[in-house]
Amino acid sequence: MTDHQPGDGVTFINTFTLSAPPEEFEAAFALTSQFMARQPGFREHTLVRGTKDPTRYVNIARWDDTASLQRAVSQPEFQTHAAALRALSSSDPQLYAPVRTVRPAPEDAPVVVVTGGGTGIGRATAHAFAEQGARVLVVGRTESRLAETAEGHDGIGTVVADLTAPGAAEEVVDHALRTFGRIDVLVNNAAVSLHGGLADHTRKDDETQLATNLLAPISLTRAALDALEASGGTVVNVSTAGALGLRTWPGASVFGASKVALDFLTRTWAVELAPRGIRVVGLAPGVVNSGIGVRAGMSVEQYDGFLEQMGGKAPAGRVGTPAEIAWWITQLARDEAAYANGVVVPVDGGLSLT
Ligand SMILES: NC(=O)c1ccc[n+]([C@@H]2O[C@H](COP(=O)([O-])OP(=O)(O)OC[C@H]3O[C@@H](n4cnc5c(N)ncnc54)[C@H](OP(=O)(O)O)[C@@H]3O)[C@@H](O)[C@H]2O)c1
Repeated sequence: MTDHQPGDGVTFINTFTLSAPPEEFEAAFALTSQFMARQPGFREHTLVRGTKDPTRYVNIARWDDTASLQRAVSQPEFQTHAAALRALSSSDPQLYAPVRTVRPAPEDAPVVVVTGGGTGIGRATAHAFAEQGARVLVVGRTESRLAETAEGHDGIGTVVADLTAPGAAEEVVDHALRTFGRIDVLVNNAAVSLHGGLADHTRKDDETQLATNLLAPISLTRAALDALEASGGTVVNVSTAGALGLRTWPGASVFGASKVALDFLTRTWAVELAPRGIRVVGLAPGVVNSGIGVRAGMSVEQYDGFLEQMGGKAPAGRVGTPAEIAWWITQLARDEAAYANGVVVPVDGGLSLT
C-alpha cells in the first residue's frame, strides 16, 4: 500500500438511503451521472446497491483531483440534479459536500480495529479513521455488511468473526497483525441490546448480551495487550449515556448493566495498563440514528417514532448521527488527547442531564 501521489486521482464516496422506489432514484442518478461524465477531471464512478439493505446505495466516484469535483458541483445544473436526488433519498449530512476523500493509507499508517464495523456507529468510525489516513480492520459476523463498509476504501480490511466465540479475540488480533503488522487503537464497539423487562428475557438472552457487550471486549483487549503496548496504543470502549452515573433503565436492565460494567473496566484498565503505556477511554453515546432499533426488531415506523420522541427529550432537540459519535471516537484516540485517561465521555445532546 502506498501513500496518495498526484496523478492517482481521488475517490469520493456518497451514500444514499432511498425514500422512493429504486427505479426513480436510479433514473435521477443516471441524469446526474451524465452531467458528471461531461465535466473536466471526471474519471469514472460505480453505483453499488446494498446486498442486505436494498434501500441503500453507495456511489464511488473517481476524479483527477478535489478541485475538479468542486468545480462540477458548484454549477447550477448540478444543484438541480442534487435536489432531485435529495427528494428521493437521504443520507449523512455530508452527502452533497464532496469531502469524503479516500486514499490508500501508507504502510506505516496507524492501525485501528473497530468491532461492529459493518453497521451504524462502527461503520462511521471506520470511515472517519480511514479518512484521517489510518488503516482499519472492521470486525463483525456479517460479511456483506463489512464489505459495504470497506467498499472503495483501500485502507479498510475486514474480518468475519463472532466475538462471543472462544478463540475469536485471538484470531482477530492475529489477523490484524498479519495484515497490518500493528494495532494502535482498539474500538470495542460491537454490542447487542435486547430490550424488555427482567421477566421477558431468558438466560440465553442474558448470556448473549453479556458475552457480546462485556466478555468480548475483555477477551479482545486482553488478546491485543502486547500489540497495544508495542504501539503505545489506546482502547476506546463504546458504552451508552443511558447507563451513566446512578441512572436506572427499566426495560434494559441487563444491557445497561453490561455497559456499567464496561465503564468500570474502562476506569480500572486505565490505571492497570498505564504502566504498559496503554490508554483506555470510553465514549457514551446518547440516542443515535444508527438503525440499531430496526436491527433489534422494531419496525421502521416504531424506530422513527422512538427517535422523534427521544430527540424531543434531549436539550439538543434531536438525536445524534453515527458520524457525530465517530468524530469523538477518533478525537479520543488522537495523541493530543493523551492526557484523558479512564474517562467515559458522554456525547448525547445533553440527554443524560435531564
Ligand atoms: N445507536 C444508539 O442509539 C446507541 C446509543 C448508545 C450506545 N450505543 C452503542 O454504540 C455501539 C454501536 O451501536 P450501533 O447503534 O451502531 O448498533 P449496531 O449497528 O446494531 O451495531 C452493533 C454491531 O455489532 C456487531 N455485532 C453484534 N454482535 C456481534 C458479535 N457477536 N461478534 C461480532 N460483531 C457483533 C453487529 O454486526 P453483525 O450483526 O453483523 O455481527 C453490528 O455491526 C454499541 O456498543 C451500542 O451499545 C448505541
